[in-house]
Amino acid sequence: MKVNFTETVLRDANQSLIATRMPIEKFREILPTLDKAGYYSLECWGGATFDSCLRYLNEDPWERLRTIRAACPNTKLQMLLRGQNLLGYKHYPDDVVRKFVELSVKNGIDIIRIFDALNDLRNIRVAVDQTIKSGAIASGAISYTTSPVHTLENYVKLCKEMKEMGCQTICIKDMAGVITPKETYDLVSAIKNALPDMPLILHTHCTTGMAFMSVIKAVEAGCDIIDTATSCFSGGTSQPATETVYDALEQMGYELSLDRKVLKEVNDFFKPIRDEYLASGLLKPKAMATDTDALTYKVPGGMLSNLMAQLEAMNALDRLDEALIETPKVREDLGYPPLVTPMSQMVGVQAATNVLVGERYKNVSKEVKAYLRGEYGKAPGKVNEALQKQVLGDEQPVTCRYADLLEPEFEKTKAKLGDIAKCDEDVLSYIAFPQVAEKFFEARRAKEENVAKYTIVEA
Ligand code: CO
Repeated sequence: MKVNFTETVLRDANQSLIATRMPIEKFREILPTLDKAGYYSLECWGGATFDSCLRYLNEDPWERLRTIRAACPNTKLQMLLRGQNLLGYKHYPDDVVRKFVELSVKNGIDIIRIFDALNDLRNIRVAVDQTIKSGAIASGAISYTTSPVHTLENYVKLCKEMKEMGCQTICIKDMAGVITPKETYDLVSAIKNALPDMPLILHTHCTTGMAFMSVIKAVEAGCDIIDTATSCFSGGTSQPATETVYDALEQMGYELSLDRKVLKEVNDFFKPIRDEYLASGLLKPKAMATDTDALTYKVPGGMLSNLMAQLEAMNALDRLDEALIETPKVREDLGYPPLVTPMSQMVGVQAATNVLVGERYKNVSKEVKAYLRGEYGKAPGKVNEALQKQVLGDEQPVTCRYADLLEPEFEKTKAKLGDIAKCDEDVLSYIAFPQVAEKFFEARRAKEENVAKYTIVEA
């Protein structure tokens, strides 16, 4: 059996370990080598890369993509997309989603991994459709979580719907790194059983220490592609190590298409970069270690640290145990949303508030209100109707796809920006991150004017 690898060092490893702060100058040189490794794909764009390029690195994210494309002509380039939310947390109108997907593909993306935090497939349909129309591979991703409504049957049903929608591959996306080896084996087996020809991907994180075991069990159950990171950028909150998993699977007799010598070259290149970030403090040793709190408390690591920070700020860290008991109750009231951003914050803050106020739902955040109004999509389970009535009063929750209520935005924004935007890609940068993009455009213009002045003097 053949097993393929997706290398995540440029996107998820970069995002999980060093908050996506690696500028392209740091890794430009290694791109031709990455192109020779034999990866199924190179995850290099989307997620937080776009925001980080504009906000912190003074880099045009589209230019980054084109640079990687030019240097890696033989490897499929992959990005992560939050369905109708694109790269953020709000819903965009369909014309913007279509344009974003179209231009991502035009600028070099081959595979778009598309997910919705609630697994409400209405929120990925347009992005999937446009990905296929643009000639790229649409990979539908399940946001993995455990709850009484997240059964194997329901996951298999989701996968069947994704296939009907046109998804060419399916990814089990365990953003919190909580999937166990047995859960992995059972889930991969169930999906493979129902959809034997559908290429299946496992994406997990080493946070709790489960990931190395889980990828092996995934492969044993028939998983086709696994996400790994070059070893010096692996482990902790990142993915399992590419070379380690390669050696283990090779010995087990699996057919692998990676060039092990090139894998070493890649890792040798990134090692001093990793050390630099460790020395500067951007990479914290804690991020590279195993943390089993998520297994103990049944909440993802990031959510737990947010909860503790929130209680600490209110001088109430001694109420942590109560807040942790309240957390699953709030989650149940909200219909068991997967505990990923922004739902993890929403549930955590509400649980802490319920405990600190001393009365449940006396104060309800505007995010929870919007959620109960149906603005994020459909909850996986039943929401507490009494709570919904208490919060919404006479207001009826939205039952349609939220984006159906939104007016087209692209042409309007393009007209508004005028020549501040030099191309349609600029318009999309602006729609995704207005203030940040505006600053970036301004800095770019100042730089160009400086260059122009200098050129005139020289001439
Ligand atoms: Co991830």
